[in-house]
Amino acid sequence: MGFFNWAAPAFNRVADRWSPESVDDIAGWLRPYVAPQGHLVDVGGGTGALALKLAHALEAEAVVLDPTPEMIQYVPQESSVRAVLGTAEAMPFEDDWADAVLVSDAFHHFRDQPGAAAEFARVVRPGGGVVVLELDPRRWYMRPIVAIERLLGEPGAFFSQEEMCAFFAEHGIDGTCDHIKGPSYRFTGTVR
Ligand SMILES: C[S@@+](CC[C@H](N)C(=O)[O-])C[C@H]1O[C@@H](n2cnc3c(N)ncnc32)[C@H](O)[C@@H]1O
Repeated sequence: MGFFNWAAPAFNRVADRWSPESVDDIAGWLRPYVAPQGHLVDVGGGTGALALKLAHALEAEAVVLDPTPEMIQYVPQESSVRAVLGTAEAMPFEDDWADAVLVSDAFHHFRDQPGAAAEFARVVRPGGGVVVLELDPRRWYMRPIVAIERLLGEPGAFFSQEEMCAFFAEHGIDGTCDHIKGPSYRFTGTVR
């Protein structure tokens, strides 16, 4: 049993941490890619708290893709949000189906990051978007966080901003990294 299987009820209590301002920001980064009625996949979307708000903000369908049944059981029952059990590394969607993928606080949990990036480039249409919200491990206070994640059996595979941009470029997704606050940053890329 993995970390999120047993931690899901506790995570659900803090999952809805998205202020209206942060939802506006994230929706703004996705809007150039996701038109009304478009398709967004929140990869590692967990309980769907962010996906629901983005579906409303973008007037689009948001699919929460996550391998942990105990997390997706909390995804709200709403017509604009759909929960799908699966991994980033083997996405159960057709080629070019999605307008964008979002990964929030989940990329460092993927056990095969190159496999996940290849799937993003396959599933997102050419010209579509990839937005990744991550933490830069170079901040000194990230060291205990990385250590705790690994003690809990998670990969704790955090990338710096430069590593993230270079990594996605190698997988056909060109973009930029921008600092948000503290250790948080976002990668915003376009599929070639
Ligand atoms: C810290 S939670 C983040 C949930 C949500 N994105 C958020 O920001 O609140 C990390 C999520 O990544 C999921 N996850 C772990 N490995 C994954 C994989 N290989 N593919 C997709 N999701 C994965 C976990 O099940 C968990 O729900």
